[in-house]
Amino acid sequence: MSTPPAAPHIREVPEAHLGRALDLASLVFHESYDKEDRERYRRLLRRCERIGAYADDRLVGLLAAQRLQLSVPGGQLPCAGLTFVSVAPTHRRRGVLSAMMAQQWRGCAAQGRPLAALWASESAIYGRYGFGAATHLSTIEIDSTRPLALRVAPDPGPLRLLDAAEAPELLGPRYEASRSRRAGRPARDRLWWREQVLPEEDEDDDELSPPRIVVAGQDPCAGYAIYRTRGGDDNGAPGIVEVQELESDTAPVTAALWSYLASIDLTGRVRAWGRPADDPLPLIAADRDQVRVTRQFPALWLRLVDVRAALTARTWAEPVSLVLEVRDEAIPANHGRFRLITGPLTTGPLSTGPLGSDPDGVSRGSRYEPTTDPADLVLDVRDLAACYLGDTRLRRLVHAGVVTERTAGAARRLDAALHTAFLPFTHDEF
Ligand SMILES: CC(C)(COP(=O)(O)OP(=O)(O)OC[C@H]1O[C@@H](n2cnc3c(N)ncnc32)[C@H](O)[C@@H]1OP(=O)(O)O)[C@@H](O)C(=O)NCCC(=O)NCCS
Repeated sequence: MSTPPAAPHIREVPEAHLGRALDLASLVFHESYDKEDRERYRRLLRRCERIGAYADDRLVGLLAAQRLQLSVPGGQLPCAGLTFVSVAPTHRRRGVLSAMMAQQWRGCAAQGRPLAALWASESAIYGRYGFGAATHLSTIEIDSTRPLALRVAPDPGPLRLLDAAEAPELLGPRYEASRSRRAGRPARDRLWWREQVLPEEDEDDDELSPPRIVVAGQDPCAGYAIYRTRGGDDNGAPGIVEVQELESDTAPVTAALWSYLASIDLTGRVRAWGRPADDPLPLIAADRDQVRVTRQFPALWLRLVDVRAALTARTWAEPVSLVLEVRDEAIPANHGRFRLITGPLTTGPLSTGPLGSDPDGVSRGSRYEPTTDPADLVLDVRDLAACYLGDTRLRRLVHAGVVTERTAGAARRLDAALHTAFLPFTHDEF
């Protein structure tokens, strides 16, 4: 009888093993990386913390984490952006990923990183690790074979095209303004702009043009769109405008940018794959047959690694005092009954959060302490994560039977406190 193999050893992946890490990732993701891909991913992995699982000195598991600053209501928090989650097919379903995740949680605690986030390729995997779908995206398509009919008059100011090299400086402030309004967005440095936002070639479709950038207003810019195009085919199918990002200050600038995108010659369709779930475009469209939401899907999955730090760092829309009984099988410090008390609403002179001034009427300075009082709400840590940025409503989870409300009205009160003026949003995949 043969003996079962020893459990792989979990340890840091040194830079010297980056080649092995990429071999493993290309194996499990069924990709073949060319020289350029390998160089780009090496640069990315070098910036990451890297946890490996080694069996007889062979790398059979990899979990990399980017060091992100993620916007949360009223500020930002350090966040481990998990990526390259890979286990060799010879070692799957033996607890390798679970062991690497446990190591990740220890690392987050040691470095004071209360959040972890990822983009899931399979939704079934991450709930068990305490991740909840914390932002959702809508894909919006415009039939641009006819002029775009809008209920808001486009801003008549000139638009201009920008070189990608100028983007971080000129678009950065507008992105930051949006990041302070919408939770879930990572801070971008120059490298992030160049490699994640504006790579010359689209990662999924090499027939698309390089990124084009159109800007409204001078300095500071009032709005911009990043898009790529593909010409029509020989069978008469019209060309397409793929919109990657559109940020704007006001409704007229928003209208001007969409009108521009819908009027590019030799194209007949505009497709924006990832817009916020509360994007205003469907509301300003005069013809809802011309502008359609074709898909909605979970985007960023969030893990509250340190629930207390996460809850006390964000601002709240209402004062509440509620006892939460949180189930967290992986991180004992989060597990148990805690009283959440959010502070009084701000009025008059405003306190300043890390991303700028608090709007009038938010509560900062909350407390979250262990208690023996009876629970008002009983919930899994993954469900708290789904609500944390302001996306999912707790009442829906109570209605669905996955969260238990022990005190009538508790879910409604926590929903009111969690509320944010804009839904959380990000399309920065990592
Ligand atoms: C997904 C992957 C990392 C899981 O690694 P693993 O080492 O097999 O995971 P574990 O053995 O630690 O599994 C832990 C639990 O998750 C479950 N699980 C793992 N992968 C799953 C999947 N794809 N779907 C559903 N459940 C899954 C396991 O069944 C196990 O459950 P159990 O504890 O109740 O038995 C690995 O299969 C892989 O590399 N897949 C290809 C790449 C990939 O999909 N990466 C994720 C990209 S976001």
